Amino acid sequence: MESCQAKDAYIGQLHTTLQSAVPSRVAGFIAEPIQGVNGIVQYPKGFLKEVQEIIRERGGLYISDEVQTGFGRLGSHYWGFQAHGVKPDIVTMAKGIGNGFPMGAVVTTPEIAASLSVAMTFNTFGGNPLACVIGSTVLEVIEADGLMANCETLGTHLLLELANLRDEFEIVGDVRGKGLMVGVEMVQDKASQKPLPAQKMNQIFEDCREMGLLLGIGGMYGQTFRMNPPMCISRQDIDFAVAVFRVALQRQTRGR
Ligand SMILES: Cc1ncc(COP(=O)(O)O)c(C=O)c1O
Repeated sequence: MESCQAKDAYIGQLHTTLQSAVPSRVAGFIAEPIQGVNGIVQYPKGFLKEVQEIIRERGGLYISDEVQTGFGRLGSHYWGFQAHGVKPDIVTMAKGIGNGFPMGAVVTTPEIAASLSVAMTFNTFGGNPLACVIGSTVLEVIEADGLMANCETLGTHLLLELANLRDEFEIVGDVRGKGLMVGVEMVQDKASQKPLPAQKMNQIFEDCREMGLLLGIGGMYGQTFRMNPPMCISRQDIDFAVAVFRVALQRQTRGR
C-alpha cells in the first residue's frame, strides 16, 4: 500500500484536534478540494478520503466547498471531490455557477434536505426564476463549448509555461495547481523558501495590472499569485499572461 508522510502528518494533526478541541461527536468537516484563497494548496494523496472516514466514524457530515473548484475548472473532473474519491453529504457551489450573476446553491441528500423543514428556514431570493435560467444556461454552455476540456488542456499549458519561469527565476518558489486553478508561490530565494515580502508582491501585481494582466493574491503570507481565469480563455490569452508575468519578474529581479 502507498504511504505518504505528509498525509500521515496531517491526519495526525486532525486526530489531535479531534481529541483535544471538539466533542466526541462532530457536526461535520468542510474543505475545498484545493484551497483557493490560501494559495492554491493541494492536499496529499489520500488525505481527504481518510478524513471522510474519520469524520463519519464520529457521526459528522463531509461537506465539499466547490465554490472555486467546481463546474469543471479542474479539468479532469466536474467536481473537485471526485479527484479525492470522497462522497460528500453536502456540496456548496457559487461563483462559476452564474458566470458573474450572483448565485449560490447547496446540494445534499433528500434526508438532510428534509431536516431543514424541522426548523423555520427561508431565503428571500432563493429559487429566483431569472437566476435559475442563468444557472441552467451556464451548465449548457459549459457542456456545449467543451469548457472542462479547455481547462484541462490550457491549464496544463499554463502550468508548463509557468514551470519554465520557476526554473528561470530565483524568486519563483513553486508552481502548482490543476486545470485552470493555478498558484505561483513567490519566495526570497529557493534555498530559504521565505515568502517574498508584500511590497515586492505588490510591485509585480501592479506591473502586471498596468500591462493588462489581473492576478489574485493568496496564501498565509500573501506570497502566492493565484491564476483562476475564465474557463473560456484561449491559448493566446495564456501566452499573453505568461509573457506579461515574465516581464514583471524580470523588472523585479533586475531592480527595475
Ligand atoms: C471557496 C469559497 N467558498 C465560499 C465562498 C463564498 O461564496 P459566496 O459569497 O458566493 O457565497 C467563497 C468566496 O470567495 C470562496 O472562495
